[in-house]
Parts: sequence; C-alpha cells; structure tokens
Amino acid sequence: MRLFLDTANIEEIRHAARLGILSGVTTNPSLMAKESGISYRERVVEICEVVNGPVSAECISRELADLLKEAREVATWHSNVVVKIPIDEVGLEATAVLSREGIAINMTLIFSANQALLAATAGASYVSPFVGRIDDAGQDGMEVVRESVAIFDSYHLPAQVLAASLRHPRHVIAAARAGAPIATLPYTVLKAMVKHPLTDVGIERFVADARSYQAEPARERANS
Ligand code: E4P
Repeated sequence: MRLFLDTANIEEIRHAARLGILSGVTTNPSLMAKESGISYRERVVEICEVVNGPVSAECISRELADLLKEAREVATWHSNVVVKIPIDEVGLEATAVLSREGIAINMTLIFSANQALLAATAGASYVSPFVGRIDDAGQDGMEVVRESVAIFDSYHLPAQVLAASLRHPRHVIAAARAGAPIATLPYTVLKAMVKHPLTDVGIERFVADARSYQAEPARERANS
C-alpha cells in the first residue's frame, strides 16, 4: 500500500518525505486556504519537487469548457501533477476527454461505489472515496472502499482506489485490509501511526540501562 499525505503544508510534506514513507500528496482548496503567502500553482510545484510521486491539484471550474481549460493548464505545472476533479456529470465528461489526452485524473468527493464505478469507467486514474465524511453521515465509509476495490479488481479496471478523508490510524489499517492500493493521510494521522506508549517506555528503559552499564567500569575503578 502506498501512503500519501493529505496536506498543502510544505513542512509536513518535507518531514514525511524524510521519514521515507511518502509516495504522493493530495491537496484540495480547503487545505490550500490554510496556507498563506504563496499561490496555488507555486505551492503545487514546490510539493512536486519534494515528492517523487503523484501530487493531486484540484480544479474548481463548474462549466465543461472552463474545467477542460483549467485542467489542461494545471496538468502543465509539473510532470507529477494529477488533476483532481469532483464527480458530477460535468466532471465525468471532462474526465473522459482529459484521460483520452493522457492527463491523469483523481476523481474526488466519491461517496458511493456507484460513483467510483462511473469515475473508473470514464477514465480516472485514481478514485477517492471520502471515508470519514461518509462515516459522519452515519454510513460505513470503509464499505465504499471495499466495494470499489472489489469492483475494480473483478472488471480489471485500471483505476486505483485512493482511500481519503481518513481520520485516525485505524482507518488506515482498515483501508489496507480492504485492499486500497493508496491511502492519503492528514499529518496528524501519520504522527499518531508512529507513536505507541510501549515504544516510548521501551526506549526510555533501554537508554537508562545502557547508561548504567556504560557507567559500570568507572564505578568498578572507583571501588578498587
Ligand atoms: C482527499 O483527497 C481530500 O483532500 C481529503 O481526504 C478530504 O478529507 P476531509 O474529509 O478530512 O476534509
């Protein structure tokens, strides 16, 4: 399973890259709105230079002609860019056109396996079910991931399920067990995945014990 970071914060991305776990990044307009002093394009290019993998940059146009224009422009920013498009009829039509032109699309705001099937059939390379937001609506977000993975596998659809809107470490494990080839994580979830209280206690004890045996020869000398 490949892990992406779901953020537009360059320091978080640099840190995840240093940890050796980062295969890609997803951004969206809400994540970008948290950043200041830099244009969307500049930030996306900056991210692409840190990450050796797909970087999703979202389009906001709502009319087909505008969306095609915006998507083609965004796709020129960097070879790592994947154009993110929300699913609706305009989004599907744009995906059909753009995928034929060889532009990689991440179809976003997926809330059902039906939407996932349509996105994959229209030619999206990545399909992003929003697990946490589905859970928030009282349904089982991971079930959409499971169903989408099973459908893509059964019919050899080349699209990859990108489990998104993950809120905690158990979501990541559940997405992995559901067979999602990619999970995109908020930085806080990545940090939580690293931590375990028993690891902290274990490190503390090993360090204390190492110090005590390193101090031993000095004590022995003192006693002789
Ligand atoms: C994925 O591509 C989206 O940016 C993201 O996972 C949305 O997550 P949220 O529901 O926490 O906003």
